[in-house]
Amino acid sequence: MKTQTVPAYAKLNLTLDILGKRDDGYHELRMVMQTVSLCDDVTVTLTDGTGVACRVAGAELPCDERNLAVKAANAFCEALGYHGGIDITLTKRIPSEAGMAGGSADAAAVLRALRDLIAPTLMDERLEEIGARVGSDVPFCVRGGTQLAEGRGERLTALRNAPRLYAAVCKPDFPVSTPALFQRSDRVALTDRPDTAALLAALEAGDAAALCASVKNVFEQVLPDEQRARIEDIKRALLVHGAECAAMTGSGSAVFGLFREEDVCRTVCEALRSAELQTFCTIFV
Ligand code: C5P
Repeated sequence: MKTQTVPAYAKLNLTLDILGKRDDGYHELRMVMQTVSLCDDVTVTLTDGTGVACRVAGAELPCDERNLAVKAANAFCEALGYHGGIDITLTKRIPSEAGMAGGSADAAAVLRALRDLIAPTLMDERLEEIGARVGSDVPFCVRGGTQLAEGRGERLTALRNAPRLYAAVCKPDFPVSTPALFQRSDRVALTDRPDTAALLAALEAGDAAALCASVKNVFEQVLPDEQRARIEDIKRALLVHGAECAAMTGSGSAVFGLFREEDVCRTVCEALRSAELQTFCTIFV
């Protein structure tokens, strides 16, 4: 049986700006996204049967089309006219409803594994196109690295790799629904926007301090008061512990602080970890 295990890396938003609502119901975005080392493991096996089967270890997740890994396998089969059976095993580490693209990362890993197993000559662009049908963040996860993402998130421009930084990721014990937060954003005046151009210039110059000075996410302004207060508390704690900057990622609820030194990042993760707060020490990849 042909089988392959690949890592599915999480992402952080260095910036996230919402430019407006589109006629198709999506929101026009401008964001800089960064792959980090925290990952799920995704094993894809071609079987003699038909259809897509899925198992998940490490989290309570549905194993039908609601799971983006299954949706990705079905989209790949439809695009390539493949009718064989596919088994997917997900070993989850990336927290769910955190703004780290955990589901999209699994979907992208499934697409990459299926390409290797079934259609090794398939171009990256085509894989990203199939990914875009599965979810807005999937093309980014197929590509990875440091990217400017526009449109609904699927239009990517490759950027110079960010300087080597460590991220202490803190996930509080409340989930955030992405569609619900996008809906709230329509009713909130976004006053404090990221300076995306400054972040792009910082990346171009390889300037870690300027990069950190430009990290910002407009979704923080959209959160209900109680959740925003919790996010602000975590950001303050990260800054007090020496983070160069701190922000929520995606639609939350994970918050990250950036550090230059791994041992400092690790110590901060240990200091902030509690029953209400999961923490992860990760590095830009
Ligand atoms: O594309 P995806 O299925 O990941 O998006 C989930 C939901 O998030 C969409 O149904 C939509 O409500 C919201 N969304 C949005 N604008 C985007 C991306 C997502 O409004 N650019």
